[in-house]
Parts: sequence; C-alpha cells; structure tokens
Amino acid sequence: MKDQLRKITEEAIERICKTSSLDELNDIRVEFLGKKGRITSIMKNMKDVAPEERPAFGQLVNEAKSKAEAALENAKNELQERAMQARLAAESIDVTLPAVKMRTGHGHPCQIALDEVERVFVGMGYEVVEGPEVEYQEYNFTKLNIPEGHPARDEQDTFYINDEILLRSQTSPVQARVMEQGKLPIRMIAPGRVFRSDSIDATHSPSFHQIEGLVVDRHITMTDLKGTLTQFAREMFGPDTQTRFRPHHFPFTEPSAEVDVSCFKCGGKGCRFCKNEGWIEILGCGMVHPHVLEMCGIDPEEYTGFAFGVGLERIAILKYEIDDMRLLYENDYRFLKQF
Ligand code: DAH
Repeated sequence: MKDQLRKITEEAIERICKTSSLDELNDIRVEFLGKKGRITSIMKNMKDVAPEERPAFGQLVNEAKSKAEAALENAKNELQERAMQARLAAESIDVTLPAVKMRTGHGHPCQIALDEVERVFVGMGYEVVEGPEVEYQEYNFTKLNIPEGHPARDEQDTFYINDEILLRSQTSPVQARVMEQGKLPIRMIAPGRVFRSDSIDATHSPSFHQIEGLVVDRHITMTDLKGTLTQFAREMFGPDTQTRFRPHHFPFTEPSAEVDVSCFKCGGKGCRFCKNEGWIEILGCGMVHPHVLEMCGIDPEEYTGFAFGVGLERIAILKYEIDDMRLLYENDYRFLKQF
C-alpha cells in the first residue's frame, strides 16, 4: 500500500513537472487529487491497513497530497510566468522605430489666397463679413441699380429658385445688406461663393468665389480707391507691381474701372503669361453709385464710398500659376500639396 502510494505520488509529480499547459495541469489535479482522484482514493483502502498503522498511513497520504499540491502550485506559477513573458515579448513595441507619418491634408490654394487677401485688408482696418449664398433678386440686382430687364438678370446666366429668390451671381449684394444696417463708416470685405450658369472649362465654372470690398465714409474719393487697391496689388503680387485703372461700366458704381496689374512674371515687358500684354486684369471697382447709397438708406450728399470685386480663383490661378481652373475643384491631394 505504501509502495503504491509512493508510486502514484511519483507519477503525479513527474507528470506535473513535464507538462507545459495549464489545462493539462488542471486535468492532472483532477486525476490525482480530485474527489475520485487516485491519491484521494487510497484513503478508501484504509480498511486493508492494520488498525495500529492507520494513523501513520493517514499521515503519509496527507503528506503525498501536500507534495502533489505544492508541485501543482509551483508548476502553475511557472507556467503563468512563462505565458506572461511570451505575451510581453509578442506585444513589445520598439519605441525607437520612426513613427508613421500622419497625413494632415493641405490648405486649398483658394483658401491660402483668401487668407492672404484677408490679412492685407484686415491690416488696413477692414472687417470680414458674410452674406447668404441663396439671395433675393432685390439684393442681387435691384438694390445694386440693375433694373428689371437688364441683361445681367438674364436667366441664361443666373440660377433662379423662383421669381424672388436666386443663387447669388456676385458677392455685391452683401454691399446692400451691410449698408442697410446703417452703421457708418463701413470698411468691409465679403468673401464667398457665387453661382452662374456657365459650362465648365479651363477658365469657367458654374460656382466660384469672389471677394467684395466696400468702404463708405465722409470724404471718400477715387484717390482712396486707387491708393487702397494699388497697396493691395503690391502686397499680393510683389512691391514693384504697377496698377492701371481702365474705365469700365458697372451699374452699381460711377465712375467704374477695371484694374490691371503689371505682369509679375515679366515685369511688364510682355510674355506668354500675360499674353504679351504686360498687364493682367485682376478686379472691377468704382465709386458707389449715389442711387445705390440712397436705396440703402445712406445720404449721398453726406457720404461717399468705393467698392470692388475680386475673383478669388483668378487670384489663386495667377499667384500660383495654375493653368486650368478645374484643378481647383478636384481636391487631388497631389495637386493641393504643391502650394
Ligand atoms: N460684381 C461684379 C461682377 O461680378 C464685380 C464688381 C465690379 C464688384 C465692380 C464691385 C465693383 O464691387 O465695384 O462682375
């Protein structure tokens, strides 16, 4: 009996030492130490032991049990430790590896150009304001001295929502909205999206952006207009930039002009960029028409003003030498990241 106990215990310990799996270890525990386990069952054979030897034998069984339990506990700890080490090794991170570069995208050339325009005018004390893209005809045309029947109202050029409402075809309606608020003097620019039913090509798009400018105060003259826009041109296109004011017609300004800048590629000598003209057109402007001031509640005897409208895409295309407007609307990162 004692021999049997010793053999079973040795077998248990040998198997405990050999196993490398926690599950198997548990099976071994059940097999030897469970309720019907092989060591446990030996107790049931107590009746075969001489009565005087029973206490000593009982003690032996208990010792065998504790030995096996201790071996199990040891093995379990060791296996758990090994598993933990293996996991740590598998999950280790090499902090010295270079990080994966985050791609944060890139500012759109129109946004970069707009930031620049805003910087220049905010520096001159202008406020940046916004107006609605869906606008009343009243503001887009009537209050800007563009009467009914005027060709600018033509359905072929303008997206009408109904008889009263349209997608603004210019940012000029923001002029009327700001003047109507009656807070004078005014020094503002109003950048935003405009819509015209043009078909898409290298220089046209049914939706593009303009920046409107408006100054209304006492004693504002054409000199202020010329000085301001010349300064703007120099800041945008370089300090040597010359400006040229060509007479033009806009219904909401009188007199009106278009502004050219000397070609910043060739300095005015004539090149492919300026189509050999030496000059590049950049904006329309003029002195606010007295009738427009009046319609917006401002006394033209007391106040005068000037206004201008710049095409944002045009500025970006010129500044960054982009040869096709469509590139601006594709949002291809490979294109955008160049600016
Ligand atoms: N709104 C005009 C256009 O879309 C541009 C313009 C010209 C705006 C002269 C002005 C201005 O404020 O004075 O063609």
